[in-house]
Amino acid sequence: MSGLTIENISMRFDLPNGGSVQALKDVTLELKPGELMSVLGPSGCGKTTLLNIVAGFLAPTEGRIAMNGHTVQGPDAERGMVFQQGALFEWMNVRENVAFGPRMKGEREAQYGANVDHLLDVVGLGDFKDKAIYELSGGMQQRVALARCLANDPDVILMDEPLGALDALTREKMQSLVLKLWKETGKTIILITHSVEEALLLGERLLVMAPRPGRIHKEYRLPFADLGVDQDLREVKKHPDYNKTREEILAMIWDMEEEIMGRTEESA
Ligand SMILES: Nc1ncnc2c1ncn2[C@@H]1O[C@H](COP(=O)(O)OP(=O)(O)OP(=O)(O)O)[C@@H](O)[C@H]1O
Ligand SMILES: [Mg+2]
Repeated sequence: MSGLTIENISMRFDLPNGGSVQALKDVTLELKPGELMSVLGPSGCGKTTLLNIVAGFLAPTEGRIAMNGHTVQGPDAERGMVFQQGALFEWMNVRENVAFGPRMKGEREAQYGANVDHLLDVVGLGDFKDKAIYELSGGMQQRVALARCLANDPDVILMDEPLGALDALTREKMQSLVLKLWKETGKTIILITHSVEEALLLGERLLVMAPRPGRIHKEYRLPFADLGVDQDLREVKKHPDYNKTREEILAMIWDMEEEIMGRTEESA
């Protein structure tokens, strides 16, 4: 079976004081190859934990992750990760960062070179190959991170707040780039974000998670990501359903946050 299966995943963290945190409870989800899913939810609802389990960085307390039919038992190049920031190799230039994965696999320049250059062009960094990482803006660094991830040719790309540290304009451009890459490469993508707007624009499936324990609250299927592939994202936002869904999700998350605050005050 191809695609990603998240099967009854639960995760409990045992704490040094003897207590425990139920970070995830019974999360079940299937992603077909090429699907783009955004994940939203209040802080602490287990989004990063779920992504780390799919990446193979964490073993779940219960449940199973399967990728193209085999059980995930650790990190693998088939599942690439793009972090919020700071995950580039500062001692390598832009091109060396992107070539890192293929080189680790033992490929030679003659094998990976053309693809690495192509990917740098795709993310608009063709003229910056020899630059040091510190010479780049935040947006450019995230484009290097995307190209580096794509150079490993993963089946699934996992992104944890990849655009969270960028200014509004750069972020908008990067959102368009993510959609372009999604359509051009046909990769399966899971993207975590705190922005409702971003989740609406970058999710043909949008998952809302709820906290304590972290679980799936609601899933939407949305037309905006497809529309955004060829259209200006500002035009997409004028779609009659866009604001309606945005308001609905904002209210939903607001209610969850209120509940969390209420509980915290009660227990204080
Ligand atoms: N290694 C750990 N040890 C103990 N508790 C942890 C650990 N990692 C996460 N948690 C707890 O699990 C819960 C889920 O954390 P997680 O980081 O997955 O949330 P999140 O949804 O990504 O939050 P945010 O939106 O703030 O990034 C939180 O209550 C957190 O404190
Ligand atoms: Mg997180």
